[in-house]
Amino acid sequence: MSDAAARTELDRALALDIVRVTEATAVAAARWRGRGDEAAVDKAAAAVMYREIARLPIEGVVVVGEGEEEESPILYIGETIGAGSPAGITLDLAVDPIEGATLCAKALPNALSVFAVAEHGSFLKVPAIYMDKIAIGPGYPDGLVDLDASPEENLKALAHAKGVTVSELTVCILDRPRHGKLIEDVRAAGAALRLIGDGDIAGVIHVADPHETGIDMYLGTGGAPEGVLAAAALACIGGQLQGRLLAPNAEDRLRAKAAGITEFDRKYAIDDMVSGDLSFAATGITDGSFLGGVRFTKDAVFTQSVVMRASTRTVRWIKTVHPDASKFA
Ligand code: FBP
Repeated sequence: MSDAAARTELDRALALDIVRVTEATAVAAARWRGRGDEAAVDKAAAAVMYREIARLPIEGVVVVGEGEEEESPILYIGETIGAGSPAGITLDLAVDPIEGATLCAKALPNALSVFAVAEHGSFLKVPAIYMDKIAIGPGYPDGLVDLDASPEENLKALAHAKGVTVSELTVCILDRPRHGKLIEDVRAAGAALRLIGDGDIAGVIHVADPHETGIDMYLGTGGAPEGVLAAAALACIGGQLQGRLLAPNAEDRLRAKAAGITEFDRKYAIDDMVSGDLSFAATGITDGSFLGGVRFTKDAVFTQSVVMRASTRTVRWIKTVHPDASKFA
């Protein structure tokens, strides 16, 4: 079997395996839902995600992870995990066991467990610095919106392409003091805002299906690792995302350089952040706009997930009943 064929086989077989990882991680995190303890959420989710990935028949290297080796005992960038690859292939892993630890700790919407797997060399390596992001849904000409255009220009371009007025558009932005001017500009342009407390992977994914989520555009600054994971999601489900790394101080620039980043003004399109074949899975921890959260009952645990593949654009929405809750222990 050629390498490419082996990779395809592996990837097809992995689709359900990776969703098992996010399901188990989401269940572990959900046990801490609403308890106000972000550290406990983080620890429980990371431990279970590590355990579940370690069981997979792969050799995976964490490329987008919980930080550098000295910052995180597990799921750190560069860590090799997996039970071994029968085909001798190394895969890249992008992990976010708990996207929105604060959302989970406060039982607020859209906390997710996220995991993506790709061919080696597919994910842009970024440290835990910030990234400016703009995202819109599928079906528009490339470059319709741009980080260097003003919010008003981007909103007018999207409204024109959609055949609506700017006042009919809704923009999702992280509710942060750093976004004060951006929020003012979006409101002045006439669009509505959905401000979110955390979770900009979900924020970006919202744009892929505006009819369902009510979100037409994502704007603002969030984590760079979350930007790469959001790019992985849109590579599968469709949509445009542009990101530009922010490294305002020497320390951030050093970390970025250590990760191999040389151009700080570069605007990254989806294809620059993720390439080749990849699979992306997310499971809801708390109820959200596109995934319900984990439910515990006497007889079973219920989860809702999405698992998607870039090369085929297959998107599977999976509602799972887990009668044997002991498997999550
Ligand atoms: P965590 O789950 O790691 O706390 O990340 C949540 C998040 O809201 C991300 O979705 C987002 O990219 C980032 O934090 C924004 O960073 P900050 O909280 O510093 O504004």
